[in-house]
Amino acid sequence: MRLILLGPPGAGKGTQAGFITAAFGIPQISTGDMLRAAIKAGTELGKMAKQVMDEGKLVSDDIIIGLVKERLKQPDCANGYLFDGFPRTIPQAQALRDSGIQLDHVVELQVPDSAIIERMSGRRVHQPSGRSYHIRFNPPKVEGKDDVTGEPLTQRGDDREEVVRKRLDVYQQQTRPLVDYYQAWAKTGDAAAPRYHALAGVGTVEEIRDRVMAVLKG
Ligand code: AP5
Ligand code: ZN
Repeated sequence: MRLILLGPPGAGKGTQAGFITAAFGIPQISTGDMLRAAIKAGTELGKMAKQVMDEGKLVSDDIIIGLVKERLKQPDCANGYLFDGFPRTIPQAQALRDSGIQLDHVVELQVPDSAIIERMSGRRVHQPSGRSYHIRFNPPKVEGKDDVTGEPLTQRGDDREEVVRKRLDVYQQQTRPLVDYYQAWAKTGDAAAPRYHALAGVGTVEEIRDRVMAVLKG
């Protein structure tokens, strides 16, 4: 199973990725998590990425495509993977298509901006694993602690409201065109085109999980 989870910041990509990767036994490839790991490690890439991410802008296509190419060489990718936050621009999608990788599905999670602001302000993350919670909508079992490791949860630096608004803007300008790109490709009847599923991303986490699972298993 190879799939893309597409949707604006805060759509629930990371949250739903957890269910899908567990159900299909595949790794989650989150370019956002990879960049945050580089920031934490203090690498040159991390230093550059921090500046860009704190402003809500996108890291350059060349860097992202290189990162993903390297990640796909890892043995855990042999039986498939889930892309979360990649591709995010037309050139990234084109590079993926040119690589000849056969994708099975693109799942778009549709969430209005008003719900997104509320989700981001209450988000808490376990940085080492990328697991995310919400203080009201998806609380951890013990307040402030990760369910699996018991380690502390933190807030993401780019979840400040003004940065979230910028990220939503960037999504509309640079990532939203991928909706048309993948829908148009699916309509050509090309056997290499992934199936496209536009799903409502509002409702409880479990309701959305069931919607996603239904299209992936259907
Ligand atoms: P990235 O980490 O990919 O962030 P994003 O796309 O902005 O998405 P988020 O992680 O914010 O949201 P999500 O959809 O995963 O939602 P989540 O499940 O956490 O990218 C960060 C930055 O890195 C970018 O801005 C860019 O600078 C850079 N970058 C990354 N990839 C790149 C690329 N390919 N090219 C260039 N630059 C790149 O949920 C959000 C909150 O809502 C949580 O609190 C959650 O608990 C809650 N929630 C989830 N589902 C529900 C629900 N159904 N109801 C209520 N609350 C819910
Ligand atoms: Zn995420």
